[in-house]
Amino acid sequence: MDIKNLIDNIAEKHKASADELLTILKNDSEDEYLFHKADQVRRIAYGGEVYIRGLIEFSNYCKNDCLYCGIRRDNRCAQRYRLSEEEIYSCCHTGYELGFRTFVMQSGEDPFYTDDRLCGIIKNIKKKYPDCAVTLSLGERNEESYKKLFDAGADRYLLRHETASKEHYQKLHPPEMSYENRMDCLKILKKIGYQTGAGFMVGSPYQTYENIVRDLLFISDFKPEMVGIGPFISHKDTPFKDFDNGTLRDTLAAVALTRLLLPNGLIPATTALGTISPEGRELGLKAGANVVMPNLSPTDYRKLYSLYDNKICTGDESAQCIKYLAARVSSAGYKIVTDRGDWHG
Ligand code: 5AD
Repeated sequence: MDIKNLIDNIAEKHKASADELLTILKNDSEDEYLFHKADQVRRIAYGGEVYIRGLIEFSNYCKNDCLYCGIRRDNRCAQRYRLSEEEIYSCCHTGYELGFRTFVMQSGEDPFYTDDRLCGIIKNIKKKYPDCAVTLSLGERNEESYKKLFDAGADRYLLRHETASKEHYQKLHPPEMSYENRMDCLKILKKIGYQTGAGFMVGSPYQTYENIVRDLLFISDFKPEMVGIGPFISHKDTPFKDFDNGTLRDTLAAVALTRLLLPNGLIPATTALGTISPEGRELGLKAGANVVMPNLSPTDYRKLYSLYDNKICTGDESAQCIKYLAARVSSAGYKIVTDRGDWHG
């Protein structure tokens, strides 16, 4: 079967075999067609709407030592910070005024943020902004903790699976972290009732196209409401400093295939995509993504939340430049909307 036919079939059935996915990933000759189909599928579910999320990176302390990540515990060069509660609320205030109706609270795995502390913050935000969704991105916690945070009012939780191949997972993480625990966390989040986000890096060290196929099949099977996909970008103070970055093409292909498999997914055009290419995020939107997550963190802290080198953080990706971002989104053929942007299930 030729590649266009393969793409048509996946776009129609939202299902694919490992062989079909591998064929498309390995062959870029029909990329334009793939992106076009992904755009059609996203338009059936979401029209030309793009949802915005205000990202608040409130702590870069992390007890984990993921080999790819710039805020890993063993990176002594990282200057650590925590926002005060007041600073967090002030980010929400700015964000609300700018039209954000989702706040994404992201941090490293920072033991300072106990369940009680986090529940207090979530309750305060939800009380002040009842029309807003709170998304958490705090890494692995236990079931009881996830439940408490949900009961405090959190709506969504982002926890990328990073890779759906156990052997590959072990190459990206230290021995004390486990693939099973990561997958268990995702199942628990979904069971509790969070809109749940999985996701993976494209082009991470040792990754093969076969690994990406497994990521896509995992997404197709688990059906998370959200999927974050970005290129791996090396960070100079990590063990992976000498590895190549993921490519724009492979990341866009992974985004597009994810859209075909998960027509209603909330899929961001990630900051990492915008970092490897100046047009990365627009191209992401045109390849099936429907969410952007501008940075709401106080400007001085943004560069310290450094997961990878050269992160864009002072230009129009910042929440403050939402007007400029809106213009870029609109010239790509889409429209930013001001609402919670929930999943169209
Ligand atoms: N390059 C790209 N993405 C990264 N992340 C962490 N480190 C890097 C890197 N070097 C991603 C991980 C994590 C998310 C918050 O950021 O996928 O889940």
